[in-house]
Amino acid sequence: MTQEPKRINHLGIAVKSLEEGLAVWRDGLGLQVERLVEMPEKGLKIAFLPCGETMIELLAPLGEHSEIQAFLDKRGGGLHHVCLEVADIAQATAHATAHGLALLGQTPALGAEGFPVRFAHPKTTAGALVEWLEK
Ligand code: CO
Repeated sequence: MTQEPKRINHLGIAVKSLEEGLAVWRDGLGLQVERLVEMPEKGLKIAFLPCGETMIELLAPLGEHSEIQAFLDKRGGGLHHVCLEVADIAQATAHATAHGLALLGQTPALGAEGFPVRFAHPKTTAGALVEWLEK
């Protein structure tokens, strides 16, 4: 048995530019921007827009080597990942791997939200990229 995930912490949405994403999610859909963060080491500019208990994170490329460039090239943008908030990331990932999911990376990394995160390998998630966040 494993503990159930607590909630969807955030949805990561890839956009070609924050301008394009904000025109939809802020202007068209009425969410408020809480903050903007640049992560040059990942080639990302991120806008955080809370929607109730869940954050919408607009992920835009920053510079030449963005983590999301391949996704943008292939899909043109859209839903990039679903982040499940869990109490114990080691337990959640051990449970997932016991059920055939593979993990990206060797250890949890510190995510843009300031908490440890880890991703499942997208080839093992039936098409939707999953992230865990421990909080
Ligand atoms: Co995320």
